[in-house]
Parts: sequence; C-alpha cells; structure tokens
Amino acid sequence: MLEINHLHSGYNKIKVLEDINIQVPDGKIVVVIGRNGAGKSTLLNTISGLVKISSGSIMLDGEKLPPTPHRIVARGITQIPEGRRVFPSLTIEENLIMGGYLATASEIQKRTLEVFETFPILKERFHQQAGTLSGGEQQMLAMGRGMMANPRILLLDEPSLGLAPLIFTQVFELVQQLNEERNMTIVLVEQNASIALNMADYAYVLEDGKIVIEGTGKDLVVDPRVKAAYLGGVVEE
Ligand SMILES: Nc1ncnc2c1ncn2[C@@H]1O[C@H](COP(=O)(O)OP(=O)(O)OP(=O)(O)O)[C@@H](O)[C@H]1O
Ligand SMILES: [Mg+2]
Repeated sequence: MLEINHLHSGYNKIKVLEDINIQVPDGKIVVVIGRNGAGKSTLLNTISGLVKISSGSIMLDGEKLPPTPHRIVARGITQIPEGRRVFPSLTIEENLIMGGYLATASEIQKRTLEVFETFPILKERFHQQAGTLSGGEQQMLAMGRGMMANPRILLLDEPSLGLAPLIFTQVFELVQQLNEERNMTIVLVEQNASIALNMADYAYVLEDGKIVIEGTGKDLVVDPRVKAAYLGGVVEE
C-alpha cells in the first residue's frame, strides 16, 4: 500500500500541494482529477522523487520512500510522464530497452513481445526514431515503456491528452488490462474526468493543490459538485 500523509510540496518558494492525504491500496486503480494547474503532475512528480517533499510523508508498505528517483523506480514505482516524453532521437527498440533497464535480457524479450501484441504499430516501426512517430504513436510508445518496467505501481499523467477517441479508448483499456491481468496498481491523474472516474476504485478531486472531494469512482460520477464542475452536468454511463 502506498500512503501519502499530510504532504506539502512545491518548487523553491512556490507552494503547490497542501496537506494531501491519499491512500493507494495494492491492486487498485486510484484516480486524481483536476483542472490545469491544480497540481496533478506535481503530485506524481513528488511520488517519483522529482519534486522535493516540504513536509509530510509518502510511505510504501509502512516504510518511507527512498530519497532519489532511481531508488524509487527500484522499489517498483514507474511514472509515465505527461506529454508522451519519449527519447526522440532513439529508435522504438532503444526506447523500449531503456524502459526495461532494470529487467533481465529474457524479461526484456518477453515484455517487448507483449508490447507488440498490444500496439502492433510499434513492431512495424521498430527501427524508426521515436521523434518521428505521430503523437498517438508516441503515447503508445510511452505506455510501452511503462510496460517494459512492469512496475508494481504505475503512475500515469494524463494519458488521454491529445489522443483521438479510438486510441484513447485503447490506452484506457490497456490500463484496465494491466490492472486486472497483472494486478498492477495504478495511480492515474486526468482532466478527462468521466472516463477516469468510471474506471476508478477510488478517486480524489484536486483543486488548487488541495483535495476537495474524495470517494469511490461510482460515488464521484454522481456527486452533484463533480457533475457540475467536471462532467458538464452530464452523468456518463
Ligand atoms: N518547475 C516548476 N517551477 C515552478 N512552478 C511550477 C513548476 N512546475 C509546475 N509549477 C506550478 O505548479 C502549479 C501546479 O502545476 P502542475 O503541473 O502540477 O499542474 P497540473 O494539475 O499537472 O496541470 P495540467 O493539467 O496543466 O498538466 C502550477 O501553478 C504551475 O505553474
Ligand atoms: Mg500536468
């Protein structure tokens, strides 16, 4: 279980997150929704060790997370950053290998095949430079890199951003599949509230660096405050 307790964090003198309390039980999908600038990426970057904790704690199985990003990755926490950050001058093959840098050669081989099964286009373009892929293809590659690490906890920063509906449905299906078939724990931050809440076991609404509403995904999709502010007043089925 990943537990965030009374967390405050930000950038130098700029305070962003205030008194954040979030629990992520093993095997669950936990969603954080919030508008531009609410602090969603800051939250994931703080879990990953890229943004410093000012006060409070982040605990994994009752133990404080180590202080550096690479040691946090070694504890089984992988982030897929916002904006499909792939290595543009590396090929798809090289990007995938980078994603599996803690894996053995045989694990890399097996996981590469799984990535190709999920995203056949990546197989066709294996030797192409990642920077020349389309936006949607780069998002697939970013997801593929996350799959290569096969983390215990996957942190996803707005995977739907800028994707056509068909690809974005595919990305969310993959997230659910990783959760169901590999029991991967998912922390998903999204502006696209309806699709995210519908797949959430538990969800939080982040506004201006603070959690203002929380509950099960089912509760939040019908919450009048969430409906008015994030779902355009419409309840999605
Ligand atoms: N490196 C930084 N230095 C200073 N301020 C930053 C930095 N990164 C983010 N911020 C500020 O922190 C606040 C929260 O930003 P953050 O990126 O966490 O929001 P977000 O919820 O992810 O937004 P979006 O949906 O647009 O990605 C914003 O006011 C932003 O300007
Ligand atoms: Mg962000």
